[in-house]
Amino acid sequence: MIFSKQLVNWYLQNKRDLPWRKTQDPYLIWLSEIMLQQTRVAQGLPYYESFVNAFPTVFDLANASEEQVLKLWQGLGYYSRARNLHHTARFIANELDGKFPGDYKSLLALKGVGDYTAAAIASFAFGEKVPVVDGNVFRVLSRVFGVETDISNASAKKEFQELALQLMTQDSKADFSQVNWGPAIFNQAIMEFGALQCAPKNPNCEVCVFNTNCVALKNGMVANLPLKTKKTKVTNRFLNYLIFEDQHHYTRIQKRSEKGIWYNLYEFPLIETESDANLEELIALVAKQYSNSIEITAIESLQLLPIRHKLSHQNLSIQFWKVSTNGVLPDGMPFSEVVKMPFPIVIYNFIERFKTEI
Ligand code: ADE
Repeated sequence: MIFSKQLVNWYLQNKRDLPWRKTQDPYLIWLSEIMLQQTRVAQGLPYYESFVNAFPTVFDLANASEEQVLKLWQGLGYYSRARNLHHTARFIANELDGKFPGDYKSLLALKGVGDYTAAAIASFAFGEKVPVVDGNVFRVLSRVFGVETDISNASAKKEFQELALQLMTQDSKADFSQVNWGPAIFNQAIMEFGALQCAPKNPNCEVCVFNTNCVALKNGMVANLPLKTKKTKVTNRFLNYLIFEDQHHYTRIQKRSEKGIWYNLYEFPLIETESDANLEELIALVAKQYSNSIEITAIESLQLLPIRHKLSHQNLSIQFWKVSTNGVLPDGMPFSEVVKMPFPIVIYNFIERFKTEI
């Protein structure tokens, strides 16, 4: 079996028509690859389009404010990607005259660009022979070749990179004259194959082009590969957001300044508890924190049940509480202004629902 030949033939017949595959501009490729990390194409595509629209060149992105960038990123998650993207755009615009580094090694030096992204840009934009290894690639190669290496181990990546490189270059003598393929098409193809055919759950192996050779299929191991022993540790957090409302119907927000989730995004004043708080507990906590500074007239819960919101490492249980005051909040803002700031999507969705009731 010539793996790459079969893979590329499959790709040419099945690939999706995606905008970042029609360009060799490293800026656009970088943008798309950062957006698509841990993100499905269907979710990333509209964000890609709005970014390209708002920031057609790396200079436009560099000249934007962080708030503008985070606002456009709102809802895509893993916000450090957006902050690093912005930082790197400024670096490329200001220090490199807008010119992207032209090879894998120098791409790796950019903030927010790891092995995967450097390989993607180097191969798609510059045709460099470097394999991408992401979750799709782990899955496809571990199954087709029966690789039982635990992908939780850091050394696994190197092993898969070596295998992918070997496959990418294995048939340099084969006749590919009808198709213009190379490292770029191999990398696109293996990711597409992982996304569309060799799906994480219940792949349809009956129609798979590798079903006569796939080691995992032969050995009944499809559901067990890739092997991953260490599961991510998930913590539970209980967040109580205070929706202050003063006599002008103004409220209060703050920028998250501690490193961790949602760094530099906005939120309402927060009280974190050890479990879901009830009204009585919340009244006591608000009184303790605010009775010296604000005269509170009423506190009420704004939803029947806490909102559950899952992040990669945290399960959040969120409650919004309306805290009314007769006075005027010193740093109050109308909801029409609040809504323009970048928020975690779970808070933004709340604002969208709530602002109609104000
Ligand atoms: N996921 C990550 N990179 C991708 C790409 N270039 N095309 C489709 N899905 C992807």
